[in-house]
Amino acid sequence: MAGTGTAHLHTADEALLRLENLVVEFPVGRTGLKVNAVSGISLDVIPGETLGLVGESGCGKSTTGRAIMQLPRPTSGSIIFDGNELTKMSGDSMRKVRTNIQMIFQDPISSLNPRRKVRDIVMEPLMIWEVGTKAERAAKVDATLEEVGIDPKRAAESQPHQFSGGQCQRISIARALVLDPKMIICDEPVSALDVSVQAQVLNLLEDLKAKRNLTLIFIAHDLAVVKNISDRVAVMYLGKVCEVAKSDDLYARPTHPYTDLLLKSIPVPDPTVKVLATKILGEIPSPVLPPSGCRFRTRCPFATDICAKEEPQLRDIGGEHFIACHHPIEHLA
Ligand SMILES: Nc1ncnc2c1ncn2[C@@H]1O[C@H](COP(=O)(O)OP(=O)(O)OP(=O)(O)O)[C@@H](O)[C@H]1O
Ligand code: SF4
Ligand SMILES: [Mg+2]
Repeated sequence: MAGTGTAHLHTADEALLRLENLVVEFPVGRTGLKVNAVSGISLDVIPGETLGLVGESGCGKSTTGRAIMQLPRPTSGSIIFDGNELTKMSGDSMRKVRTNIQMIFQDPISSLNPRRKVRDIVMEPLMIWEVGTKAERAAKVDATLEEVGIDPKRAAESQPHQFSGGQCQRISIARALVLDPKMIICDEPVSALDVSVQAQVLNLLEDLKAKRNLTLIFIAHDLAVVKNISDRVAVMYLGKVCEVAKSDDLYARPTHPYTDLLLKSIPVPDPTVKVLATKILGEIPSPVLPPSGCRFRTRCPFATDICAKEEPQLRDIGGEHFIACHHPIEHLA
């Protein structure tokens, strides 16, 4: 993998969010070097869709999510949300658009202010935006807490540490929902939770999405987690997009060598399968000096000379399935 290109994008009218050639770089001290965290990715999300964004640790998933929120503004590229080019917006206009895009993070407990009562935490966005009267705000917060399965009375008396990890994630979801956003970026929202609780939080997100007609970006490092919740999945590697496909198709027909290995590394009853994939993959290269051509070539079992020389572009292989690879895996019809 490691490709660029926009072949997979819908038209600007169809997409609620459209990222084009997004680049995010961070300087490495005063060395003149830079971390190539996101290197020219293009993605879009259509209204009511859940886009899964997966890849190993450090591939740029959270940086992409934060760049959408302009935290910080990307180095270059375009981000169009609901018809607005976010990268060119002034601070004031951006703050207004931002109420429509909310983010939920991996660690629910540390993302909630430990000193405040939970009900006040959920109330805070309404206070900042001066939404409604005091009574309207109170009613809205209580209704939202109930919607996520948290008792408003208990929330009024308790701080985050008095709730479990799963309940804290429900509180984070309530805080994200209270402004009635159009889109929520969920950054590994269940990774820190027990497996039994993970399913409950995923079900809650699915119910809320259906009820509120939300559009979601669901970030995870594990393809197993995004499988059921996503309509489409984009696989990232070292700051690039390598494969984009409808969820079912990606799992049935992984065509990029990296996606194939990621799927083989999902824990299954036979533990040797995971060991095999990890052994083939080895260490991820540094994003400061990424490999030339296809960034996956140093770990790819199918790499040839062209992979070092030419960066593969995303291309359509049929059925709204796109990959960036010179030697894709062929599946029998
Ligand atoms: N503020 C920053 N300054 C310097 N480097 C950064 C900064 N934020 C992220 N990076 C680097 O950018 C790359 C992408 O990081 P990012 O957090 O987006 O990865 P990720 O895919 O979300 O990983 P994880 O699964 O571990 O959350 C990494 O190499 C990371 O170290
Ligand atoms: S075959 Fe080449 S282009 Fe395809 S993933 Fe491997 S290294 Fe990249
Ligand atoms: Mg992350």
